Amino acid sequence: MRRRTFLRAAGAVAMTLALSSAALAQEAVKVGLILPMTGPFASTGRQIEAAVKLYMQQNGDTVAGKKIQLIVKDDTGVADVTKRLAQELIVNDKISVMAGFGLTPLALAPAPLATQAKVPQVVMAAATATITEASPFIVRTSFTLPQATVPMADWASQNGIKKVVTLVSDYGPGIDAEKAFTGAFTAKSGQVENLRVPLANPDFSPFLQKVADAKPDALFVFVPSGIGAQFMKQFMERGLDKSGVKLIGPGDVTDDDILNGMGDVALGAITTQHYSTAHDSPENKAFVEAFKKANNGMRPNFMAVGGYDGMHLIYEGLKKTGGQGGQALIDAMKGMSWTSPRGPISIDPQTRDIIQNIYVRKVERKDGELYNVEFATIPNVKDPVKAAKAN
Ligand code: DHB
Repeated sequence: MRRRTFLRAAGAVAMTLALSSAALAQEAVKVGLILPMTGPFASTGRQIEAAVKLYMQQNGDTVAGKKIQLIVKDDTGVADVTKRLAQELIVNDKISVMAGFGLTPLALAPAPLATQAKVPQVVMAAATATITEASPFIVRTSFTLPQATVPMADWASQNGIKKVVTLVSDYGPGIDAEKAFTGAFTAKSGQVENLRVPLANPDFSPFLQKVADAKPDALFVFVPSGIGAQFMKQFMERGLDKSGVKLIGPGDVTDDDILNGMGDVALGAITTQHYSTAHDSPENKAFVEAFKKANNGMRPNFMAVGGYDGMHLIYEGLKKTGGQGGQALIDAMKGMSWTSPRGPISIDPQTRDIIQNIYVRKVERKDGELYNVEFATIPNVKDPVKAAKAN
């Protein structure tokens, strides 16, 4: 009897040990989310954080038997800070994956760390075409400016626009947009003049005066998310809204987050992009409703959908690897496809960039609110810059 009690006790100890090592094996999978939560690009951070949290709320915080632990860090929009935070998250917190990256310089800064440490880097916002080439561990769920822009050039040339001035923020995505538009539009015999405005604290008025003097058929604009309202105000103050110059561009300037506050000046603007709050699908209706409910009525913009899909990619990738990160996780993400609130999307297994529909939209008032109303679809668009290199 005594011997049996002893054995039972020993068995219980062994069981406890086994359970605690199982618990160790089930350690949390840590996801580092690095975003500009303060500073001029805080709206990007706010949208993406809200979408990531909504995804986790809807899908639970356990994947492949492991708890997902989200660690949110504010890089204030400064690339050196992004890099330091990524280093700390990799070395101290032992994250399995890092995500976020609100602007191109903020996505490029930690890329060498992703490569060295073999930590997948999910770019949810930044959109310069070359970003995915900075590390084999980068995968993107936002878009590329050339991907969104070439359809704009096609639309313009098919709709009687012959002379265009481009006005872009003078850094990676702006230069990408300028080059993509100019190349595609001049190939169809369009005429283009290029202007670039500084990214930080932009004063558009001297550039808008040049536009007024040049009298183009259309003004093509790229400014990053959150800056469109400043641009629209100055566009109106210069009287350009009444001058017959049509406003066109990739959809960043008529960002759904701030579009409603822009007023009538935005009406009629034609843009091309991968996401509109007004996208008509059951998946998007459910997404917009849940997002607004969780965020005091805030509308999701294209940054939010990049965050939501980025989190989906992380969850589905981890399901495939049984919770493993590293090379296995980035490999699992390649070629994945699903139906997003924006429509059907997939991760190009060669480039790790996103393949998605681009929609042509017009700003209209519906039920008292301004929306980017989609009226044409260009299906399954790849980043044209990398597609051209592959040929
Ligand atoms: C980038 C940032 C934006 O806010 C945007 O709308 C597009 C591109 C960028 O820095 O890559």
